[in-house]
Amino acid sequence: MDKLLSHLAHLEITTPDVEASTRFYVEKFGMRLVDSIDGASYLRCWGDHYRYSLVVRHGDEPSLANMAWRTASAEALDAAAASIEAAGVQGEWVPGGHAHGKAYQFTGPYGHSMKLFYEVEKYVAEPGFESVYPDRPERRSSHAAAPRFLDHVTVATSDVRGFADWYNRALGFRIMAFTDLDEAPITVFSVLTTNEKSHDLGVVLDTSDRAGRVNHIAFWVDTHEDLLRTADVMMENGTPMEYGPSIHGIGEQNFLYFREPSTLRVELNSGGYRNYVPDWEAKTWKPSEGSNNFYRNGAMPHSMTESFPPAEGFTATEEGASEEMKQALLNPYAEQGRG
Ligand SMILES: [Fe+2]
Repeated sequence: MDKLLSHLAHLEITTPDVEASTRFYVEKFGMRLVDSIDGASYLRCWGDHYRYSLVVRHGDEPSLANMAWRTASAEALDAAAASIEAAGVQGEWVPGGHAHGKAYQFTGPYGHSMKLFYEVEKYVAEPGFESVYPDRPERRSSHAAAPRFLDHVTVATSDVRGFADWYNRALGFRIMAFTDLDEAPITVFSVLTTNEKSHDLGVVLDTSDRAGRVNHIAFWVDTHEDLLRTADVMMENGTPMEYGPSIHGIGEQNFLYFREPSTLRVELNSGGYRNYVPDWEAKTWKPSEGSNNFYRNGAMPHSMTESFPPAEGFTATEEGASEEMKQALLNPYAEQGRG
């Protein structure tokens, strides 16, 4: 298959309070509001090459409304649409949106909205925001917590391996790793990528009956020191760290997680490996190997299993599931001992 997708271009999320969420991303996180259109905020990181990477719209609940990927070429956009339809999903062509050209919009087999486009408006810095680096779209933010660019999105699904297989077959995402529980052959996590990054699409097991949910959105900083400073700045300004800073075994990325005002989870990453191997064979990790927290010295808080919008009805509480299995499913990345 020729390369179809290049990278994640932007995410569209919903929040009950657009103003509060926007203020958070601007004042606490150091993103910049570039456009306000029909009540939606268009936000960018200083290193984003397109006009914006995050759209914040009104919705009754926190959710992922859309994820937008840029194709490798104009021809690849047509090929991607044909491949999606050949894989059994019918989407539709939509006219250009704000700062991008015509797009193919579809809902994947596990309920996630995805938009593909090639034509896009490159960001040109307004006077006062130019960088002295010719390759930088904008000068580095002076905000101490500012992320450089959008990194990835991690969604939730009822069938992690089925999800990974479909996005691999239909769109050429490389499957980089899986996590199966120590106690049982249940796959709770996978990472996929369109490029050399360890992942730009993650997927966690969703044991609720609500399809199309998101677990977190993630941004990037250059160094571990930048990440630690963000934790410090966030803590000093009243935003607790939900989990981390620590390092994921899978992908070898430094991480921290916090919540924005809607309660949606935001991750910050630095580091991690690069992988260019076209026929990479995904390994299956166990949580006890440190798939999530490589140091294995701190259990993941239960709150990390919450995806968005909120849902009830964990199937792990159904009759027949052992106490051990309920706990494992409710907290799939908890440490299972150090082997
Ligand atoms: Fe993540």
